[in-house]
Amino acid sequence: MNVVFRVWRQRDPEDPGGFVRYPVDDLAPDTTLLEALDRLNNTLVARGEPPVAFDSDCREGICGACGIVVDGRPHGPLPRTTTCLVPMRAFRDGAIVTLEPFRTGAFPVLRDLVVDRRALDRVMQAGGYVSVRAGSAPEANMLPIARAAVERALDAAECIGCGACVAACPNGSASLFVGAKVSHLARLPQGQPERERRALSLVEAADREGFGACSSHGECEAVCPKGIGLDVIAQLNRDHLLATLARR
Ligand code: SF4
Ligand code: FES
Repeated sequence: MNVVFRVWRQRDPEDPGGFVRYPVDDLAPDTTLLEALDRLNNTLVARGEPPVAFDSDCREGICGACGIVVDGRPHGPLPRTTTCLVPMRAFRDGAIVTLEPFRTGAFPVLRDLVVDRRALDRVMQAGGYVSVRAGSAPEANMLPIARAAVERALDAAECIGCGACVAACPNGSASLFVGAKVSHLARLPQGQPERERRALSLVEAADREGFGACSSHGECEAVCPKGIGLDVIAQLNRDHLLATLARR
């Protein structure tokens, strides 16, 4: 199949940038979008032109490094699928496919499709650690946790920190990401000692980094490749309110 990539090219954060069209031909339908970009980059390098910069690492949907806005949707057209796993058969033959970086105030564009997402790392860092009194070896297995609680905690732990939720939110909110981090540990007994402090620190850090407030649009849930649900934002709001009241 043949496509035309309409790619955002931007040399550096100061460059105003703009779209450039590149035809890419003879792609197998199972080729992934990133492999198609690799093909394009081989051609550009052979012509002595700068390759298109984009992020990737695992290319298996588990690290959160990739993230391109494809035809206006963070990660592309397929639900619960990271950019790295989008196959070219998701587009029609001859399509013009528009590729842009995540656009939101807290993620400045560094080059082409690469943005600086370290704000999410700093928020996560502010959450700190859990204190674990491991004691003697058997103790870790002597803390019974209900299966349902484990499942709900692991659902929240699926967040890979890709930032698509922020890119999709009209308000640039990181509430789905922060909610996932709060809920993961709040749903386990191990997360209780620091529960209040963690909720306060994460929200303060998110505010400091310039993420907006949740405006309940739900765009974040719609684009999250890991299916993180809005229930984590409800948990975040509840924990943050209780922690604020307890601090008074
Ligand atoms: S909540 Fe979903 S969209 Fe947001 S960072 Fe985590 S995995 Fe990505
Ligand atoms: S490259 Fe790791 S999730 Fe896409």
